Amino acid sequence: MGRESVKCSGSLEPSKSDLAVLQYGIPPNKLPKCAGSYIRRDTSVQMSAGELRAPHTSLMPKIVTVAASKGGVGKSTLAYELAVLLDAPLVDLDWDEGGVTRKWGYRHENRVHAPMIEALAAGRTPTVLNGRGRKPDLLPGHPDFAERQPAPEDIATALSKWAGEWGRPFVVVDTHPGAATAGHGAMLAAHVVVVPVVLRTNELNALEGMLKEVADYPLLLIPNLVPRRAPAAEIRRLRRLVETYQAEVGPLVRDCRALGTRKRHAAVVAEQPAAAVYRDFVASMREVAGAVRRYISD
Ligand SMILES: Nc1ncnc2c1ncn2[C@@H]1O[C@H](COP(=O)(O)OP(=O)(O)OP(=O)(O)O)[C@@H](O)[C@H]1O
Ligand SMILES: [Mg+2]
Repeated sequence: MGRESVKCSGSLEPSKSDLAVLQYGIPPNKLPKCAGSYIRRDTSVQMSAGELRAPHTSLMPKIVTVAASKGGVGKSTLAYELAVLLDAPLVDLDWDEGGVTRKWGYRHENRVHAPMIEALAAGRTPTVLNGRGRKPDLLPGHPDFAERQPAPEDIATALSKWAGEWGRPFVVVDTHPGAATAGHGAMLAAHVVVVPVVLRTNELNALEGMLKEVADYPLLLIPNLVPRRAPAAEIRRLRRLVETYQAEVGPLVRDCRALGTRKRHAAVVAEQPAAAVYRDFVASMREVAGAVRRYISD
């Protein structure tokens, strides 16, 4: 859809085309106006002699970082499902209890080692836990990581090295909300930064703040938790942000109520057959995975 054909209705129930408006893909990296605390992406590339970022070669593993300024927008949910769909190891750079590590069924309280912290300290590549296809293979997070994060450049270098040694086509990285050091490093290393976007006022305020700082990163915005009656004003606001910062928008993921109380460790996309309540969610996640592949291959 061309930009000139974009329209947003004022009704509370935007048409399908209003939602599609969000998905007309604008080439990223047009506005390298990075301010604030993030390292300019192009600077980081020079700094690391081109080792940190895309495009590399088509055979190099691609790093998919899921990040957002705001908490609770669906980073861990998307990261978990994407990792299974992309057959990718999942690195948990969050340290809070409500993330992918706990969801996977890993309890740091029962373990002696903190694999990621120890690997970073020793400069070696950690082994991921086998998720056997139903869960992603996981490099678990740890609460101590909050205080023991290396500098962003070091995280980026480590992730790129691990990805190369794991030898898988993709690596997915889940992050703590905001510009935390480790998450920043994962964004530096990323071939695509998947940003879940919730169509609510505070969440869009946070998104705007993020876009101001990282518009020169390879961002793919994924509207998440989109209600049946998506709010027209918020859609218009997102469209303005997308135009201003020339970010790309991928497929949207609707609010899937059953997710909020689901307790299984298996990824939803790995369930065969998918329960009826998850069918739309699974279909959306497959589209998101397709958008990630396309974004990286473009
Ligand atoms: N599409 C969706 N439909 C319904 N619920 C969702 C959807 N995406 C995420 N959720 C729910 O929203 C809550 C927050 O999701 P999640 O933990 O993935 O967010 P997060 O951004 O990783 O949060 P944090 O910033 O705390 O790490 C969870 O209860 C999750 O089940
Ligand atoms: Mg999370």
